[in-house]
Amino acid sequence: MPDPAVLFVCLGNICRSPLAEAAFRHEVALSGLTVIADSAGTADYHVGEPPDPRAIRTAAAYGIDIAAYRGRQVRPADFTRFTHIFAADHANLRNLRRIAPAGHAAQLGLILDLVPGRAGQDLTDPWYGDAAGFLETWADVTAAARALVAKLSR
Ligand code: 4NP
Repeated sequence: MPDPAVLFVCLGNICRSPLAEAAFRHEVALSGLTVIADSAGTADYHVGEPPDPRAIRTAAAYGIDIAAYRGRQVRPADFTRFTHIFAADHANLRNLRRIAPAGHAAQLGLILDLVPGRAGQDLTDPWYGDAAGFLETWADVTAAARALVAKLSR
């Protein structure tokens, strides 16, 4: 089996998926696993931009620096580069399925599918809210990251 490679996907790649990537990288580092991690957006609105300042501040509050992350748009080649692709919500999962090349092997799902009792739920989009929304996103993506590391460790 090749090492797992995990891609987190939201709309803009500046709020939810960079936080999911950061939380997952942090848990992977603690675990000793070898896993590739990245994030991307289904939209091209924020390509080349750093994460939202509120996302940068939220990760920094947990000692994680994401200021050098840059937004990118998901592309068909991601479905062969990555073994697992997790979307922040149903709308992004639908758009992923729309651009997925036929016969790709990547496993697709929602980020919260990883969390017991949260399967099928969307991550709340904190873009329109305040710092409290980003803390909720951080808690959710941390729970997902821990569950995924446990799953990949088995
Ligand atoms: P994200 O949040 O998908 O979690 O990165 C958003 C970022 C940008 C926009 C919407 C949501 N936007 O409309 O530009």
